[in-house]
Amino acid sequence: MKGIILAGGSGTRLYPITIAVSKQLLPVYDKPMIYYPLSVLMLAGIKDILFITTPHDQEAFKKLLGDGSELGCNFQYAVQHKPNGLAEAFIIGEDFIGRDKVALVLGDNIFYGNGLVNLLRSKTDITGASIFAYTVKDPERYGVVEFDEARKVKSIEEKPSKPKSKFAIPGLYFYDNKVVQYAKEVKPSDRGEKEISTINKMYLDDGMLEVGVMTRGMSWFDTGTVESLDDATEFIRVLQNRQSTMIGCIEEVAYLSNFIDKERVKKLSKRYGKSKYGNYLKEIVEIIY
Ligand code: TTP
Repeated sequence: MKGIILAGGSGTRLYPITIAVSKQLLPVYDKPMIYYPLSVLMLAGIKDILFITTPHDQEAFKKLLGDGSELGCNFQYAVQHKPNGLAEAFIIGEDFIGRDKVALVLGDNIFYGNGLVNLLRSKTDITGASIFAYTVKDPERYGVVEFDEARKVKSIEEKPSKPKSKFAIPGLYFYDNKVVQYAKEVKPSDRGEKEISTINKMYLDDGMLEVGVMTRGMSWFDTGTVESLDDATEFIRVLQNRQSTMIGCIEEVAYLSNFIDKERVKKLSKRYGKSKYGNYLKEIVEIIY
């Protein structure tokens, strides 16, 4: 399975912070936001990852993440010229995806919780599509899924003014190769975007959409507003400091996933200077493992 991280967009809800800097490079506590969705794909065991960014932000992402080889991965980069919608990821990524299946994660989404790794790994051989549902207090900001009494999906609506349920669809999606064809068939919505909800509805009509409910043991943040960015920062700060472990540490994830060995972690720790992040990398090879 290949992975795509969609890290374009304009981030207008975070202006003036994101006028000159990509949202996905902003700090969420002690590391750039993009580390969190990247670690999610790596935890799923995915090594081939495409970063889709705006044209002007691409260099910064390359400087931060390189070609991925030091993490035992293969990182590639592509540009989205305008924020035409999430479904465009599969058109931009068509050559990269080739004949494989693909996972898409949004660059401003953070996932953390019990059972996450097993959940992710169970999706990498999917036939059809697999997405999630998560109860939120403001579902109108998201794609919304409605279930019937038997928990079968009844409808999917993108940013409805009157949501039919509290179940929002988080920015993590697994698809088989059909998604490329489906993405090409998506017409822009009234707000001018090629919506991923349209793709999900196509799979639903085919009887090939699976929606798993993420329960309260799982935490999901999207960091698109000042409040939610602040909440995510606070969450990561409290959890990390309480547990003395890091969330979204890409070198640790690469090590635990057997993409790289101890010696490589030691070497990579030097890049982070005297930071807590660098010290953590030195510690994990010495003490914990
Ligand atoms: P959004 O938060 O919906 O959009 P945005 O980042 O442009 O922010 P704003 O609404 O404040 O202007 O995007 C969700 C994620 O998807 C985010 O990580 C950016 C990314 N994205 C793209 O890369 N391309 C797109 O066309 C869109 C719509 C979003």
